[in-house]
Amino acid sequence: MIPRDTVDKIIETARVEEVIGEFITLKKRGANLLGLCPFHGEKTPSFTVSPVKGIYKCFGCGKAGNSVNFIMEHLNLTYPEALKWLANKYSIEVIEKEITPEEKEQLNERESLLIVMQFAARYFVQNMLETDEGRSIGLGYFTERGLRPDIIQKFQIGYSLEERRAFSNAAIKAEYLPKYLVKTGMSILSNTHVEGNEILASEIFDRYAGRVMFPIQDEGGRVVAFGGRTLSSDKKVAKYINSPETDIYHKSKVLYGLSLGKKAIQKNNVCYLVEGYMDVIAMHQAGIENVVASSGTSLTIEQIKAVHRFTNNIVVLYDGDEAGQKASERAIPLLLEEGMNVKLLLFPDNHDPDSYSRLVTAEEFANYLTDNAQDFLIFKARKLSAETKNDPIKKATVIKDLVSSISLIPDAIIRSVYVKECANIMEIEEQILQVEVNKLRRKSGDKQKRTEDETQVTTELSEVLEKKEDKEEIQLIRFEEKELLRLMMNYGNIVILIEGEDDDKVQHSVEMTVDEFIIFELYRDEIEFEDPIHQMILDEFKHEIEQGRLPLLSYFIQHENPAISGFAINNAQINYNLSEKWSKFGVFITDEKNEVKKSSEHFLFSLKDKKLNSFILNLKEDLKVLSHEEIIKTQESIMKLEQNKKRINKLLGRIIIK
Ligand code: CTP
Ligand code: MN
Repeated sequence: MIPRDTVDKIIETARVEEVIGEFITLKKRGANLLGLCPFHGEKTPSFTVSPVKGIYKCFGCGKAGNSVNFIMEHLNLTYPEALKWLANKYSIEVIEKEITPEEKEQLNERESLLIVMQFAARYFVQNMLETDEGRSIGLGYFTERGLRPDIIQKFQIGYSLEERRAFSNAAIKAEYLPKYLVKTGMSILSNTHVEGNEILASEIFDRYAGRVMFPIQDEGGRVVAFGGRTLSSDKKVAKYINSPETDIYHKSKVLYGLSLGKKAIQKNNVCYLVEGYMDVIAMHQAGIENVVASSGTSLTIEQIKAVHRFTNNIVVLYDGDEAGQKASERAIPLLLEEGMNVKLLLFPDNHDPDSYSRLVTAEEFANYLTDNAQDFLIFKARKLSAETKNDPIKKATVIKDLVSSISLIPDAIIRSVYVKECANIMEIEEQILQVEVNKLRRKSGDKQKRTEDETQVTTELSEVLEKKEDKEEIQLIRFEEKELLRLMMNYGNIVILIEGEDDDKVQHSVEMTVDEFIIFELYRDEIEFEDPIHQMILDEFKHEIEQGRLPLLSYFIQHENPAISGFAINNAQINYNLSEKWSKFGVFITDEKNEVKKSSEHFLFSLKDKKLNSFILNLKEDLKVLSHEEIIKTQESIMKLEQNKKRINKLLGRIIIK
């Protein structure tokens, strides 16, 4: 039992923002901090930390608590385990009260498994550095591969002796219970037989005898598993043996290198994804720490989400060989679907990160990484285009392949930018590509593939949406609505110069605030927002401005209506940076604040364009059921709308050209 005053001290010391900040990237948002919630998959941050109140709360999934609750939830620990974890982090001495035999009995089994793993890691390191066999075989191997001692130490690399009971015997001698040795997967029982109710085994032996050992740590840095590599070149011997799935090791969730690399991932805002243990280690040796590998399994969604908490950018560095290609074919769709920016990096002459890092200097290696990462979809489009240059039939088939990749991207606007770019590269009509992408998205219209925008709508509206045929269009409109509101909340008070004509076609320049401009443009064309919450906020803007006030983000964040404050907290932060999103395509390169007029115009015109499209579509539907006279009238309206659309497209073209 941990005494009460120690508990208080731990809670007092463990600042919530500091504890949570170690696991997820938090950005300052007024008095609070905001980040991506680790407890549910999200792409727009709604996880809020209040240093003043010492609590966190996710507006998406509702999880809330203090620093101890966070550690319990996130590292899957019990209350006393979480307290001890924090005490250890802040070097607070915990003197536990005597525990009764029953309490001892109940001592968490997971804790026992973790202690066994800690013992094992130390034991293997000792073997490698302090026994003749370890030094000549284990250490000799790594020295030959060029690993520096500090790196061997950093990764706690070790060696398991060839004698097939060495580890098990040492552990039993140190009073670890055989059942835990088996439960961690470190030891194996042989010749088991059942006698009455008991399982008897004649032998216990080591899983990893004669292998070099790579400890695998969970995100908190505790050893939960091992990868053991054989040093034999015999093809019949498995190259790696990895720990089995245990109570403390869930393969699909753990990423090799994450605990050592997460700070660097966060700092550099990019994560390198490699295939093997040795690749991670070699990159550290070359000074690059923002790297992970999905040890022993193909990359899972859970692993991707673990990285996504720190960065949106991932560079895949898989081998050029067949296994590597297959692995990246499996991994990349998952990464795109998660909404990450995916780049691909290939090494020359079939090198992998490990071998290439040994071929060149650390500086050359780092430069190679930054200079050669290519956007995955653009790379793919170029490759397919080159392969099908004079073969239109083949081109048609590869376009399907490209379309399926593009359609995985959850964000509508990013998707449309890729459509444009890829159509260009493949030399096909942008519309054709867009139609194919839309088709595929409608087909795979399961909830998960829709953007968060859509899932955030109230149920009523989503029911209406279900009925609408062109969901895609509505979704895009909602995106533009959101962007306009975000611009108003952040930059609404900036004064811009608008050129316009009066009734006598005389040109005038008028100064107005961004708020006034957007509201004027919307009301002029009688445009209402599709999303009721968006419309509510717009009305609020209008009302406030009529009263002579210019409400900004803080006004909405503190709004008494939770739907409004929720929108402001979740969707309207400044860091959501347009230029970052677009800059790689050569669009909107400068600081958003300076681009605010352009951005407002872009989203206004593009919203109008989408609105017109849906009016026209509806009218065209009407044509099917109308009388002759009505048809003529309707066709006239359609023509007018289409003219209007042309005008708007022209305006739009002026803004997003190139
Ligand atoms: N792997 C595995 N089991 C195998 C082979 C590979 O679990 N039988 C996993 C390991 O996590 C390994 C990764 O796949 O790190 C990549 O395999 P490979 O490229 O063959 O190994 P490297 O780590 O590159 O090892 P080395 O450079 O020592 O050959
Ligand atoms: Mn390798």
